[in-house]
Amino acid sequence: MLENKKIVLGVTGGIAAYKSVEIASRLKKAGAEVHVVMTRGAENFITPLTFREITGHSVTDTMWADVPEYNVEHIALAKMADLVLIAPATANFIAKAACGMADDMLTTMLLATDAPVVMAPAMNTAMYENPVTQENIRKLVSRGWIEIRPASGNLACGSSGVGRLPEPNQIVDEVQELFKERTSLSGRHVLVTAAGTIEPIDPVRYIGNRSSGKMGYAVALEAARRGAIVSLISGPSALPDPIGVSEVVRIESAKEMRDAVMDRFDSADIVIKAAAVADYHAKNVSEHKIKKDDDTLTLVLEKNPDILMELGKKKRNDQILVGFAAETRNLLEYARHKLEKKNLDLIVANDVTRRGAGFNTDTNIVRFLGRDGSVEELPMMLKSKLAGLLLDRVEEILEKKNHADYKKVHI
Ligand code: CTP
Repeated sequence: MLENKKIVLGVTGGIAAYKSVEIASRLKKAGAEVHVVMTRGAENFITPLTFREITGHSVTDTMWADVPEYNVEHIALAKMADLVLIAPATANFIAKAACGMADDMLTTMLLATDAPVVMAPAMNTAMYENPVTQENIRKLVSRGWIEIRPASGNLACGSSGVGRLPEPNQIVDEVQELFKERTSLSGRHVLVTAAGTIEPIDPVRYIGNRSSGKMGYAVALEAARRGAIVSLISGPSALPDPIGVSEVVRIESAKEMRDAVMDRFDSADIVIKAAAVADYHAKNVSEHKIKKDDDTLTLVLEKNPDILMELGKKKRNDQILVGFAAETRNLLEYARHKLEKKNLDLIVANDVTRRGAGFNTDTNIVRFLGRDGSVEELPMMLKSKLAGLLLDRVEEILEKKNHADYKKVHI
């Protein structure tokens, strides 16, 4: 799987550094050319010689060594890498990388590379869960780094909890997964909506909702990874544009979202409406800031267009329409009703009152309801993983539709 792939393995100074030896060995067995860069901290746990013997390449640990042949080594490694894997990644290393510091070979090389970077944090639970570490990880992930999350179990410090480096075979499996060539949606136009819309009341206030955009952005990213041409229509969100997405259109109100979606609907093969569209807007938007002169304030709200319903009416047989249903009660009943009313192929139903589900979380707990009456109940999982499963189902529907078209023409 990793034949001819050049992987730079960064090893930083944590007790889990001993597991990196097996990671290097497994990567090499899978066919990769492995170059190890160690920090000084890592050398307190394991010697460069061990890695040299396993990988067959010299190990880089300093910017200042006298090398037999002149080349600017951190740039050479940065350019040559097909992927950089940092395992284990300590809290200190993650903090330095998040700030863009370059005070050793590994951090300097990382600033110069445009290869995908994967990090596997490993540390004590409190350190991992510390808001500053979490903020640093989020920063790196938002810039495109991939995090292999630590496992739970006994830690070297004697406590038990999240923070263990996953087993070497799991890390190598994740790396192999990244190299899989994905073309299952190539040539397809996927239209995704994400985040909540906001409806103005006056020049400084609006009606909004708690949607962060994480689900829709994860779907857009995954569709792009599978080779699709992706248009992402997003309400206000703090998330950066997902890598590989062809266009990101940032809108504010439901009306603006409707216009952006309608402009692109004819060319779309698949539409996934993850956005939390406001159902109403203020009938009269005040030209000036509303003053608190009275004890009560009455706003008259008017219904917004139901974008998905409109799409359902216009939908061609070859197009796939996926909706979301965020409910607080009668989940299946309401979701099934929306599926039928809006003429959808699939609906993703979630009970937003459950912990780990719904708005502004990294995870979700959902059920997929199909047109054929099927219900698939899924456990709590990261939105990134859910995006993959959702697109797997969409691809199955696409396959069935193609097959039906084929039969129409040939039988
Ligand atoms: N949706 C839409 N336009 C709207 C409202 C909702 O396109 N004006 C889409 C959402 O993007 C979602 C689906 O319809 O994919 C269901 O949204 P939801 O808010 O759960 O349902 P509503 O149809 O608005 O019904 P209700 O608020 O009564 O539950």
